[in-house]
This record gives sequence, structure tokens and C-alpha cells, in this order.
Amino acid sequence: MKKSKTGGVLILDFGSQYTQLIARRVRENNVYSEILPSNVSLNLILSKNPKAIILSGGPASVFSQDAPIFDREILNINIPILGICYGLQLLVHHSGGTVDSTGEGEYGFATIKTVTKKGITKNMARSSKVWMSHMDQVTIVPDDWEVVAYSSNNIVAAMASNDHLRFATQFHPEVSHTEEGHILLDNFLFNISECEKNWTADNFVNEEIVSLKNKIGNDRILVGVSGGVDSTVVASLINKAVGNKCFAVLIDHGLLRKNEAKDCVNALKQGLGMNIHLYDESELFFSRLKGIKDPEQKRKIIGDQFIKSFDRIASEVGKFKFLGQGTLYPDIIESGISAGKSAHVIKSHHNVGGLPEKMNFDLIEPLKDLFKDEVREVGSELNIPDDLTKRHPFPGPGLGVRIIGEITKKRVSILQDADEIFINLLKEEKEYDNIWQAFAVLIPVKTVGVMGDQRTYENLIALRAVTSLDGMTADWYRMPSEVLSKISNKIVNNVSGVNRVVYDITSKPPGTIEWE
Ligand code: XMP
Repeated sequence: MKKSKTGGVLILDFGSQYTQLIARRVRENNVYSEILPSNVSLNLILSKNPKAIILSGGPASVFSQDAPIFDREILNINIPILGICYGLQLLVHHSGGTVDSTGEGEYGFATIKTVTKKGITKNMARSSKVWMSHMDQVTIVPDDWEVVAYSSNNIVAAMASNDHLRFATQFHPEVSHTEEGHILLDNFLFNISECEKNWTADNFVNEEIVSLKNKIGNDRILVGVSGGVDSTVVASLINKAVGNKCFAVLIDHGLLRKNEAKDCVNALKQGLGMNIHLYDESELFFSRLKGIKDPEQKRKIIGDQFIKSFDRIASEVGKFKFLGQGTLYPDIIESGISAGKSAHVIKSHHNVGGLPEKMNFDLIEPLKDLFKDEVREVGSELNIPDDLTKRHPFPGPGLGVRIIGEITKKRVSILQDADEIFINLLKEEKEYDNIWQAFAVLIPVKTVGVMGDQRTYENLIALRAVTSLDGMTADWYRMPSEVLSKISNKIVNNVSGVNRVVYDITSKPPGTIEWE
């Protein structure tokens, strides 16, 4: 195991919606963390040599029939454990205390008062706001434990065992609403568990380069670059490790943002010296998309043609043993591979633009341990321009899912022009980095307008801008009205074929981020 990964924190997932957030909070402290399913064996845990273990929250009751199974031997090991919410109840339940369902839960904000200010509560204020989400509560504190904080409802909010090895909070320190959660986690990671701050982008890059060199040896590796952050970082990392043995390919399906394919290839070739090649396949895509209006059919055609083009190009450019891909840690957790859960299928449309599992390559996925924000840090470490590392996510089928109805060159060009104005103005107005994803959608429904003294009858453009952590849920961005007004004016005045602009104010759920 790599140096920066040993001595990390293992998080046992009991099904909390915040489990990934716990992992990210630990990593923000430069300590490696890994999520494992709650039923992981003690042996596997010990083989990873952790400095600390965190038991996540979860929806179950510790005394219910379907409480998740876990290896109780874990509770006897000489490694610090922090139980959060359900994790607290589990520790109490198995340490001789009592957890009851009194019918008096706490949801949302609560105020806690610390009883002591040492150990896990060191440096915390006497009183602070926390985020609670529980139904059951501790009614009998186990022997050899003490309560270190109560909530204002007089419910046990945090506890510690007298041997200073077990800690538990009823509230969620990982959630940003918990004002002093970072202090508590800092205490647990560094004062109590003595973790080292060695999970850093430069350590990652250095170690990954050595490992890629060993793995790839004298063979060649093919990497598909899409213009997005993940594939750009993968290609740069591999390129840095093995130079020209890495052959990067960007397929232009004609549905990228305006000038994006050329700009991206130039930035990577000239800026980073990457061995990257642009293939303009747009005619093939346009001809297959002719007359197609149904969103699912469009996605299928784009996905299928992408694979065909990639296959053909791969066979044209010679023999490759390896294929590099930009799989991230959340993809792995969500598909249940590392978590050992029965794999649940990611929405099929999210694989569009990806490659089939059965290809004649050995897969290399250097980012599979990273969250998106960490990928961006690695990108900066590799000197990839901010413009590329900070860019908003972009779907595989590209503008194809942002043109309602048939995809034609003319419509793509209208959308590209509107989108360019939108994104550039967001950057000028310093709004771009406040937004998870922003884009324009072309609605080829004609409405009447008036420009000068002329009646117009043209298309509609919708603007979409959302905030989100991971794209799974999202809220529409409260864009200042003066910015919206500038964008709308500029689009209507400059994009021929558009005479009206609307702003999408739908959150996800019930909407999705993309329109198709
Ligand atoms: P939705 O529209 O499902 O999108 O709310 C959530 C996130 O996923 C992106 N997205 C895709 N990404 N291939 C991708 O690589 C796809 O087919 C695809 N469809 C949606 C979307 O842009 C958003 O970030």
C-alpha cells in the first residue's frame, strides 16, 4: 500500500446519506479515508492498518430486525473509533448502555452544551449549533463512558469512553451546518488518533507516477480525452509518467461547445506537451442523428457511434495493451464495487460517451481513489490551466441533450453561440465558480418578438445554472437579476435565430439537470 494511504481512516457505511461527506471531510484534513461496507470483516480492516475508524450514521434502529450486520470484534480493537448518529447508538448498544425510541427525535438544527472541553471537545465553545437527524436516543449511558455534551433538549449529544478510545456524537460533525464539527473532527484525527497529514496532491502525483511507470513498462496506453476535467487529468498524469507511450485521442462528435475540441487539444499539446490527436467524426454523428427527435434514441445513437469511432481509431493507430480511464471514487462507491454491495446500476444514460466493458485492453484508472475536488487539485499540481480544471461538468452526449427535437448543424451552431455568450459572461461577472454547472438549451419553438420596428418569429433559449455537490441533487442558482439581464440582452442581440431567453428555476428532484 502507498505511504499516503497507510494510516488512514476507515469509514464503515451504515447507510447514511452523509457517508461520502465524512470521507471528504477527513481528506480535507490531508488524511486518507476509505469507505467500506458495514459488514466488512475485522481481518480486512486490520490488513489496511488504519489509524482510526468512523462508524457512519444510518437509517436503521440498532434494535430492529434489519439493523445492518457488522463484525462485533471490531469493537474490541485497540484503535480509536468515532461513532456518528447511528454509530453512536451502535457503540452504546454494544457497550452495555441503552438506546430507546422515545418518540422524541431531533431533526435539523439543535444547540449543544459541552460538559467538558478536553479530548474530543477540546477547543469547542461551551455552546454551539449542530445538525441532528435521529429518532432514537441514549437513555442509559454505559459504564465506563461519560457524556461530554448534551443537546438543549437534554438528549445525549456526545460521549467518550474512559479509556479514550471510543467517541460518539449524536449530531453530524461532517455536515457544514454543525458549526464546530471541524474542530471535533480535528481533535479525533490528530489529538486522539495521531493521523499524519500525508494525503496531498503532490504526494499523490509522485506516487502515482511511479506506480504507472511500473504498470505500463514498455507497453503503450491509449486514453480517450473528452475535454472534461477527469479525462484531462488522467491523460496528463499518464503522459507525465510514460511520455509518448501515452497516446491521447479526442473524438469531436460535433456536439461540443464552440471551438472546444480545438482549444482543448491545443492547450494539452502546446501547454503540456501531450501526445494528443483530434479526430473530427462529426459528419458521421450528424448523418446518423438526422431526423431523430426522441431523447433516448439520440443518446443511444451518440453512445453507439462514439464506441464505433473509438474502436476504429484504436485499431488504426496500432497496438495498445492498456486503456486509461477517468473513473472517480464516487463512481466506484456508487456502483458498489469497493463497497461490496450488490452493484446498483447507474442511470444508463450516464454511461453514454463511455466505452463498453468488453474491450481488448487492460484498464488503468489512476483517479479511482479520488473525489472530484481532489481531481481538480491534482490537475493544478500537474499545471493544467485553471480554465480546464475548474470547468463545469459536461455530459458525454454533449449539446445533443441540450437541443430539444432534431439535432442539425444549424441548431448546434445557434446553441454554441448562445452558450458561449452565457459562459463568458458568467466568467466576466465572476459567477462561474459559484455555479456547479451552467449551460444553454435550445428550444426550437418559435415565439413572436420585435426588434427595431421589425416583427421577429424565432427560437427560444433556456438558461440553466445549478448549485450541487455531486450532481445527484441540485438547486437552481439564484443568479443576480442584472447578470441575467446582461446575458439575455447579449444573446438576443447577437445570436441570429433567437429572440427570447428564459431562466430555468427547477431544482433536482423533481427536475434533472439536463433537459433530456
Ligand atoms: P441529470 O441530467 O441526470 O445529470 O440530472 C446529472 C449530471 O450528469 C451529467 N450527465 C451526463 N454525464 N454522460 C455523462 O458523462 C451522460 O450521458 C450524462 N447525462 C447527464 C449532467 O451533465 C449532470 O452533471
